[in-house]
Amino acid sequence: MLRAIDRERYRVIPVGVTRTGAFVLEDDDPDKFALDPEHLPEVADNGTRIVWPDSTLTRELKVTDAAGTRSLGDVDVVLPILHGRFGEDGTIQGHLELLGIPYAGGGVLMSALGMNKHVAKRVLKAAGVPVVPWVAVRRADLARQRDLWERRIRSLGLPVFVKPNQAGSSVGVSKVSAWDELDSALDVAFAEDSTVLVEQAIVGREVECGVLQGRDGAPPRVSVAGEIVVSGREFYDFEAKYLDAPGVDLVCPAVLHEGELAEMQRIAAQAFEAIGGEGLARVDFFFTGTEFYVNEVNTMPGFTPISMFPKCWIASGMTYPELISELIDTALARG
Ligand SMILES: Nc1ncnc2c1ncn2[C@@H]1O[C@H](COP(=O)(O)OP(=O)(O)O)[C@@H](O)[C@H]1O
Ligand SMILES: [Mg+2]
Repeated sequence: MLRAIDRERYRVIPVGVTRTGAFVLEDDDPDKFALDPEHLPEVADNGTRIVWPDSTLTRELKVTDAAGTRSLGDVDVVLPILHGRFGEDGTIQGHLELLGIPYAGGGVLMSALGMNKHVAKRVLKAAGVPVVPWVAVRRADLARQRDLWERRIRSLGLPVFVKPNQAGSSVGVSKVSAWDELDSALDVAFAEDSTVLVEQAIVGREVECGVLQGRDGAPPRVSVAGEIVVSGREFYDFEAKYLDAPGVDLVCPAVLHEGELAEMQRIAAQAFEAIGGEGLARVDFFFTGTEFYVNEVNTMPGFTPISMFPKCWIASGMTYPELISELIDTALARG
């Protein structure tokens, strides 16, 4: 995004978050954040500290370093391009709400819903969106009533997918093809979250659409579909998502009949509206050839050069810089 954003329109102040939660002033250098599988980019503590506005009366961002504190100028909008806990779950969004600074993407509730697979599935189901049958189980449930929960899980039938309720990026996700693999899959998922989902594995294609909030109350816009074609791997795992590992191809546009695409786009808009309808989302589906199931709604989808969301919008006729401008303009219009 640093590379693609329209520099004629926007002045960018890159802010990074270190592992221990310090907001630091980053270098405005896209090359520094290239996704090199051998060396994943990391925000280091460079000694600077971002000083957020001290009330809603000001939008002035400052930075403190060894030389003292200086102004970075007034901020019009924040782009919280962050995945996972604290970044995508409503936490940073709440921080920005407190500061009164407009930001791109979903608000607190929508972001929190998008991160919580169990609650999101309940909300989607209640709104009439087709979702994959699942059992959500807490570590404490298993400790107390092992037999009952195992029966519930087994009633889903093999194979199943086991995944942490709140993680993302395929972290902690495993496919279980035999029941003696269940315990270790649960351990891997419980390492990420105290609530875990066990889901029927859907045999079919994995297809996704990008959704953008409509302007001035207009209905959401849905991109053409993209497909994740998994050939040489068990599923779409972390390595395939971020490290360009072989065995997975992102195809856009996906080959679908016109009626199929229209059905998928209709459900994508319905899912987007059901969880809040703000900003953007990537709605992920499984398509069995006859039925579409929504797997999940990602409120801050991947934005790397190999990510599906930008690819789908580019295939729908937008440029990458236009897509970023669109997110910013929507955020400013929402104020
Ligand atoms: N019920 C399922 N049936 C088939 N494949 C699944 C199922 N659940 C997950 N997967 C596979 O695992 C990947 C990661 O699971 P997902 O639920 O999307 O978690 P994450 O939030 O980490 O992306 C999916 O992209 C898909 O390849
Ligand atoms: Mg996913």
